[in-house]
Amino acid sequence: MKYYLTTPLYYVNAAPHIGHTYTTMAAETIARFKRMQGYDAVMFTGTDEHGQKVERAAEATGKSPQEFADVISAEFRKQWEKLNIRVDRTMRTTDPRHHRKVQWLFARCLENGYIYKGGYTGQYCVYDELYVNEAGPGDPCPECGRPTETVTEENYFFKLSAFADRLLELYEKQPDFIQPETRRNEVMSFVRAGLNDLSISRTTLKWGIPLPVEGKHVFYVWFDALIGYMSAVDGEDLWPADLHLIGKEIVRFHAVFWPAFCMAAAVEPPRHVFAHGWLLFENDKMSKSRGNIVRSEPIRQVMGADALRYFLLREIVFGQDGSFSYDALVSRYNSDLANGLGNLASRTLAMIHQYRGDVVPPGSEPEIAALATGTIALVQASFDRFEFSKGLEAVWALISRVDKFIVEQAPWKLARDNGEQAQTQLDTTLYTAAEALRVVTALLSPVLPQSAPRIWAQLGMAEPIESVRFATLAWGGLPPGQKIGEVSGVFPRIELKEAVAKMRELEEQSTAEQAALLGKAPAASPEPAAPTGAPKISIDDFSKVDLRVGRVVFAENVKGSDKLIHMKVDIGEPEPRTLVAGIAEAYAPADLLHRKVVIVANLQPRKLRGIESNGMIVAASVEGGKPVLAGFHEDIPIGARLK
Ligand code: MSP
Repeated sequence: MKYYLTTPLYYVNAAPHIGHTYTTMAAETIARFKRMQGYDAVMFTGTDEHGQKVERAAEATGKSPQEFADVISAEFRKQWEKLNIRVDRTMRTTDPRHHRKVQWLFARCLENGYIYKGGYTGQYCVYDELYVNEAGPGDPCPECGRPTETVTEENYFFKLSAFADRLLELYEKQPDFIQPETRRNEVMSFVRAGLNDLSISRTTLKWGIPLPVEGKHVFYVWFDALIGYMSAVDGEDLWPADLHLIGKEIVRFHAVFWPAFCMAAAVEPPRHVFAHGWLLFENDKMSKSRGNIVRSEPIRQVMGADALRYFLLREIVFGQDGSFSYDALVSRYNSDLANGLGNLASRTLAMIHQYRGDVVPPGSEPEIAALATGTIALVQASFDRFEFSKGLEAVWALISRVDKFIVEQAPWKLARDNGEQAQTQLDTTLYTAAEALRVVTALLSPVLPQSAPRIWAQLGMAEPIESVRFATLAWGGLPPGQKIGEVSGVFPRIELKEAVAKMRELEEQSTAEQAALLGKAPAASPEPAAPTGAPKISIDDFSKVDLRVGRVVFAENVKGSDKLIHMKVDIGEPEPRTLVAGIAEAYAPADLLHRKVVIVANLQPRKLRGIESNGMIVAASVEGGKPVLAGFHEDIPIGARLK
């Protein structure tokens, strides 16, 4: 039986970060879990490469949208490979096979009478790539709060209004079509409030798939992107998708627009949409403007990909918002993976090696056997409902129980007693611990795809761990007499402070690498930054930036960083501002002291190396060069505003 599941097609306007990893790791865990249930699971992830957002991001770097999309989509692919994420199907929306599918689906909607030509004057949010019918000129987007832009266009419209009843019927008949419940309620009230028709073409944009009917129109990016789920499996027997896994902010597109497009084209809609919550960083929303975007690569390098996957699925209740922090990651790694699972594996295998010459003895303790049997069922039931944290909690309850059992039995004492009873008890203890370890390892294999096979091999299991199925996973599967493999530690303890510092350092480096990758200055031009590509802003936009003259009254290097300087800058307020600036490679703290500088005084605060930075120092920079601070030839009082 097939099980086709998808992540969103990620925008290629910026490089991948831990938020994308969260969805993709969760999806791939589900794929592995479904395989354990006997399904032929097929996992899809892809990239959404058209639209204004991507076009503008490319423009700002001087690259063509296609060149830009090539670079970023390759970053996504590399990322998944490094994180042991097996991708079975993929699609880039710039692929001609996808273009054909989009045109095909459009033609079907047209034939069936659900497309008409009309005019649209209204607001558009580029960030969300969303028409905001209810907003007036200058109003913010109700989704993200960013200013909307007025667009006046002749468009092709999709008759979304015709689908309200059929959509409500779908939600009623298939109560688990949208999960979790909160999202379902949200969507149902949105649809009940009435649906407006949806503009699905744009003439003010070039970066898109042309409509088959009129060359100057390109498809609205969401009409285009959603069809990616289908074009990726074109000609295969995989549609409808069994699950679209998404973040909660795009539920409307998936649970309202997408099934309506499918219905209009007389194609089966997907079976389930699950919208998980937001991953926050230290309880804050991650965003470019806050400068607190976390990448997965530094974490992988220091902690390993399994540690990250385990953390994300164990720490956060899937469906709800949750927070990531480096400290919490390392703490959980040490308590659960190093002290819990790693310790159980190494002590159990070491004892079999030492007391039984690497051969698994016979014997089984009924209470632990019963608990393990219950745990298998509980994990299966929890993962089936995407309650990963609950399932993992149950696995660790079993690990703790086995640990306690080993302490109670004190095999090291039994080993010194040559009596038959003691030796039988030692056999039973060792078998029970090893069999529990086998069950635990099998259950964790979707979450620890790199480490579980290593423990499996150390247990001497002949069948590959990928072929374990729930139907046959039962207590007693470890054959007595089996020779264990070579024993080596799987999760060494990690020193918290050191690991966190290392991840932060790598994160800083990776931010610089990302900037270079995106070619922030036009690659072809050796001239320093002529900002030709930057989008025009109004004077009102500019006046939102509070630029002030200030004087540096304190400066020191941030400990453990080659790049950062901690400063206090007097801008005429009662207290000097604390700032952290990445200028240590260009300036020594002593050179900064008493110097007049320009700062952006109303930037969102941002924590760097534990110091809250309240503003940004203005400097000019050229690609590959060092920053040069802005300053004045004439004298100017502290606190003066630049406008
Ligand atoms: N291109 C659209 C999706 C089109 S699907 C037909 C898009 N792309 S995106 O790059 O913005 O990706 C959004 C998705 O990335 C979220 O829905 C979620 O799956 C994941 N996440 C990105 N940041 C995230 C968090 N901070 N937290 C949780 N998920 C995050 O929207």
